[in-house]
Amino acid sequence: MTDAQSISDHWGTGDVFAEIMNAMRSTGIDPETVTIEQLAPVDHFHARGFPATVELADALPIAAGQHLVDIGCGIGGPARYLAKRFECKVDGLDITAPFVEAGNQLSKLVGMQDDVKIEHGDGQRLPYLDETFDGGYAQHVTMNVPDRSSFFGEAFRVLKPGAFFALTEHGLGEVGEPYHPVPWSEDGSGAYLMRPSDTGAALDRSGFTDIKITDTGEKYLQGYLRAIDLAEKGEAPEFGVHILLGKLAPQIVRNAARNIEENRTHPVQIICRKPA
Ligand SMILES: C[S@@+](CC[C@H](N)C(=O)[O-])C[C@H]1O[C@@H](n2cnc3c(N)ncnc32)[C@H](O)[C@@H]1O
Repeated sequence: MTDAQSISDHWGTGDVFAEIMNAMRSTGIDPETVTIEQLAPVDHFHARGFPATVELADALPIAAGQHLVDIGCGIGGPARYLAKRFECKVDGLDITAPFVEAGNQLSKLVGMQDDVKIEHGDGQRLPYLDETFDGGYAQHVTMNVPDRSSFFGEAFRVLKPGAFFALTEHGLGEVGEPYHPVPWSEDGSGAYLMRPSDTGAALDRSGFTDIKITDTGEKYLQGYLRAIDLAEKGEAPEFGVHILLGKLAPQIVRNAARNIEENRTHPVQIICRKPA
């Protein structure tokens, strides 16, 4: 099996859209009237979920009418949120085919199929023309990307001069060797963490400038600890990312917290831009 296929199988197999629909119905959400706000606990599929997307969006210079690219868009929650909030169009791409199918079905369900289009592919080889987008981002994707120079080089290629590029990721901490399973890998296979300073250097080598690296570790740790606390009290939301994380979800969340506490991972948000 190729690395790409095993990474895709790690994230999602089978009919992910049907699983989300079943979860919606069993938690009393009507698919006929569902809103992007109701989908948010599931479709912002990264550490801290929706609040982290809002914080990233607040920090980005997005204007109405722009065309953005979401590389590793998952089932499309962030793309739908940005498209609605900024009245822009977003093209998403993801390596996990069942997520692509689910993402497009969810966009249709909330009437956003003309604003957000998701296709299947690998961020290391983007299927877009040079200088297509006004901005791009990859939220919690690069932990699975072996060739950062291709990934960043491709992002650089498809962005217009002056466009922003943002990423959030779990970098490798000073101690290294994260405990597994974590959200991006069950046993360490398909995991390619890099120290934040090395990621900054890779972005620089790809041509990006004004590279700002923000440590998000404490915020992510607090988010994981809150999730653990709610689960222990039996108060975790029924409609949540555990639907996508599967049966290992409790262990994954505990390890994600422990890895930050022990400096095995180092979560960061990075914003930079292509020179004008
Ligand atoms: C933690 S999820 C984040 C999804 C989405 N960015 C979000 O924030 O909701 C990681 C996603 O990265 C995707 N991914 C991993 N490696 C990729 C690659 N080389 N190209 C495109 N997508 C990739 C996975 O399929 C998965 O959907």
